[in-house]
Amino acid sequence: MPEDSAEKIPEKTRYFSSVALRNLSSARMLWAGEALGKNREGLDIWRNVSEHCLVQTAACDILAQGLKLPDPSRRNLGLAAMVHDWDKKYESTGLRKINQQIASGEVTEEGGKLKYDFVEESGKHSIKGMEDKGIPEDIIRIASADGHTALTRVMKADCSIEEKVLQYVGSITDESNIVLLDQRVDNLENNERYKMMNEYGRQVEWTGGRTLYEMQRDVGHQIEQELVKKLLEQGSLSEYWKTRLQKSPRDLPVFILERLQAQYS
Ligand SMILES: [Fe+2]
Repeated sequence: MPEDSAEKIPEKTRYFSSVALRNLSSARMLWAGEALGKNREGLDIWRNVSEHCLVQTAACDILAQGLKLPDPSRRNLGLAAMVHDWDKKYESTGLRKINQQIASGEVTEEGGKLKYDFVEESGKHSIKGMEDKGIPEDIIRIASADGHTALTRVMKADCSIEEKVLQYVGSITDESNIVLLDQRVDNLENNERYKMMNEYGRQVEWTGGRTLYEMQRDVGHQIEQELVKKLLEQGSLSEYWKTRLQKSPRDLPVFILERLQAQYS
């Protein structure tokens, strides 16, 4: 959760509880991925995932309001953000297993490709799980617009605004904090767990020789500019933010965080 002073905690809890309640049907899906409640061993080690989804949902809603998205779009975006990482446990435990196999020499194939393919497969596993649980197709489409696996889709001109918002907010949400896009991508690039996979991206056709996170950074900044342009057109910004974002679209996460904190201040 964004850092706040102690006296704001009750209001903050109330606010995030209301975000969860508004998106209850998706929040329930987090149980299936063990991101809520205790797992079979009685531990709640995946709770960080539900907090992350909650922050991402709140941030998406700030943008939906600023962009004046129609109610159904705003609702779908919230439901998608709340559920987007429900299957994180599957991906994380799988990647950990690959790391162990590489370390023990059990695997001789290039680790980067193994991880890249596994993350692709995890995406499909997540979608299948949502379909099986009856999550509507349009929400699944937005929910799966997160991370590098969705870049080829969100780069297209006909990609929906909801998918772009989800991709962008995913690129500025670091665990349960909202940060500048460059800071988040720097952290991804410096994460040992993803290093080989990131480099393997150069060999994949759609990147044109660049790494996965170079692509995510570029696409993220493109969406950022587009969102700032739309926010300015909507006339929903204060004079201060109009001037600041016109000058520096890369400050958009600061605007989102400020609006988010204003919800419970
Ligand atoms: Fe996420």
